[in-house]
Amino acid sequence: MNMISCPHVLMISEITADGKLTLGKGISSKILMKHMSHEAEVLLHQTRAEYDAIMVGSSTIRIDNSFLTVRMVEGKSPLRVIPNAKADLDENSNVFDTSLAKTVLAVSEKAAEERIDIFRAKGVDVVVAGSEHVEYPRLMQILSEQYGVKSLIVEGGPTLNWHMLNAKLVDEIRLIHMPFIVGGSDTPSLVGGMRIGSENEMIRLKLKGTAMYGENLVTEYDVVY
Ligand SMILES: NC(=O)c1ccc[n+]([C@@H]2O[C@H](COP(=O)([O-])OP(=O)(O)OC[C@H]3O[C@@H](n4cnc5c(N)ncnc54)[C@H](OP(=O)(O)O)[C@@H]3O)[C@@H](O)[C@H]2O)c1
Repeated sequence: MNMISCPHVLMISEITADGKLTLGKGISSKILMKHMSHEAEVLLHQTRAEYDAIMVGSSTIRIDNSFLTVRMVEGKSPLRVIPNAKADLDENSNVFDTSLAKTVLAVSEKAAEERIDIFRAKGVDVVVAGSEHVEYPRLMQILSEQYGVKSLIVEGGPTLNWHMLNAKLVDEIRLIHMPFIVGGSDTPSLVGGMRIGSENEMIRLKLKGTAMYGENLVTEYDVVY
């Protein structure tokens, strides 16, 4: 799809009937996930086992303290990738426990050497993928060329989802629908950051499948840029 070498990217999210990813701003999505059917949880972990890498945003690590490992099925945990320009995340977050799985921290040239050294001392790989911020096309190229990543899951949050869609790097979207309404005008929804001025800027999706996993409808789309 892209000129640069780039993994196939699947965006996955659990989402309420009103399009929200959590109960409210700053609240962990783990609360919502507790209500997911066992079958849908297994699907999430099975997909992790099938993909080479998984990426979530730094705010998700701060709020959810995610592990991003495969736990509910047999299989190898994917390479964990965290974009964090200044390397200012807590190095003791679960995702940096490299005894569980390998982790790549993607930083920018703004990251302080001392912070990079702290992560490297924990066995975390640190890659520089941008000048001010992490540049996602560049990160995709690094993951593909240096780590042999052919497939990548993006599991949110909304800010990272927006940057990946805006850079036209997402191939597929899978939504795990949670039969709840949580409301709230500032509650995170699937895609943040987006301010479109006309219908020409809408990102178009093509529905390609639906299935029930326990009580959760799962929908799958191709992204049509
Ligand atoms: N329901 C679900 O499936 C689900 C999944 C995941 C998360 N969540 C929820 O989503 C919420 C967090 O989402 P969020 O949107 O606040 O944060 P987020 O997407 O987790 O993190 C923001 C990411 O965007 C990067 N970023 C910000 N500005 C950028 C720029 N200009 N260029 C490049 N990268 C940039 C940040 O990097 P820097 O560190 O460099 O700023 C960071 O990695 C939490 O409540 C979490 O529970 C829900």
